[in-house]
Amino acid sequence: MAMIKDLENTISKLAVRGKGILAADESGATIGKRFALVNTESTEDTRRTYRDMLISTPGINEFIAGVILFEETLSQKTPDGILFPEKLKQLGILPGIKVDKGLVILPNTTDEQITQGLDGLSERLVEYKSKGACFAKWRAVYTITANTPSQLAIKANAEALASYAAICQANGIVPIVEPEVLIDGDYTIERSAEVTESVLHAVFNALHRHKVKLEYIVLKPSMVISGKKCAVKATVEQVAKATVTVLRRTVPAAVPTINFLSGGQTSEEATAHLNAMNAMSAHLPWNVSYSYARALQDYAMKIWHGDNKNIPQAQKTFYQRAKLNSLAAAGKYAASMEKETSIA
Ligand code: 13P
Repeated sequence: MAMIKDLENTISKLAVRGKGILAADESGATIGKRFALVNTESTEDTRRTYRDMLISTPGINEFIAGVILFEETLSQKTPDGILFPEKLKQLGILPGIKVDKGLVILPNTTDEQITQGLDGLSERLVEYKSKGACFAKWRAVYTITANTPSQLAIKANAEALASYAAICQANGIVPIVEPEVLIDGDYTIERSAEVTESVLHAVFNALHRHKVKLEYIVLKPSMVISGKKCAVKATVEQVAKATVTVLRRTVPAAVPTINFLSGGQTSEEATAHLNAMNAMSAHLPWNVSYSYARALQDYAMKIWHGDNKNIPQAQKTFYQRAKLNSLAAAGKYAASMEKETSIA
């Protein structure tokens, strides 16, 4: 019973219209690559400074309901000696934690991947919860080619996502269920719709078999979109319409909130697509919002580029990006607002 109370409490704070989730849970390898793009060395100190910059941005709690942290960050402190999860709670933001252990090749496929990290997960969750984590994240990935994703990859990843979600709920932790259809490829939006529908169908089938309580999950899907190298780029309206169509077919209304990943879209595209979904229909059965990493952080990271004198400007930019996405999560964003910011 106590666990259900924890789940209720967490989801009531995450599924709030106009608020989203900041993904700041890049693994050591990924944050290293992102920092390299802005000529910054990745050390424990630069990572701590950068992530402190994000969460200490004044007013960010108006737009951000939760932050996904990487394990290292859970034990790091702000300059005034407060642990990051505690600092977030003081701001009324829930701390979460990435718990998967990354991707490995799934044997007997054409190099498709499966997410690992189920062994010992329950014990790790007990520890993360004692350090303040209220929710968790597990990411599965699917690649679109002529022959993939295979049924094997779709089923194996659905099974792992559902096992993870059930283990989280048993520990009073709300699971973010993240099936990401990768944006790389030359596929059309129609093919993306077909694949995303199959993937989500399998995920919800597995969640049902594992008796996961849909009322206490966050779904974090990719949008239905034309591949990055597709000759015909889908319009904002097409992306919004196709995405909502697929979600309506596959995601039960019991799911309280859908928080998209940005997946390599530009910051402006990710905001415009989210807005279009919320603007086109007043009757979506779920809260529809964001859980972006790159689309929230890219400009701020570029402005900072490892030089702490740029922190105030980077924070201003991060605040603006979060504000625009918050407006989009309520269907109140307009592309003209981009000009009013100092981002471009
Ligand atoms: P992006 O928004 O950069 O895709 O990251 C979201 C995320 O958390 C990936 O796991």
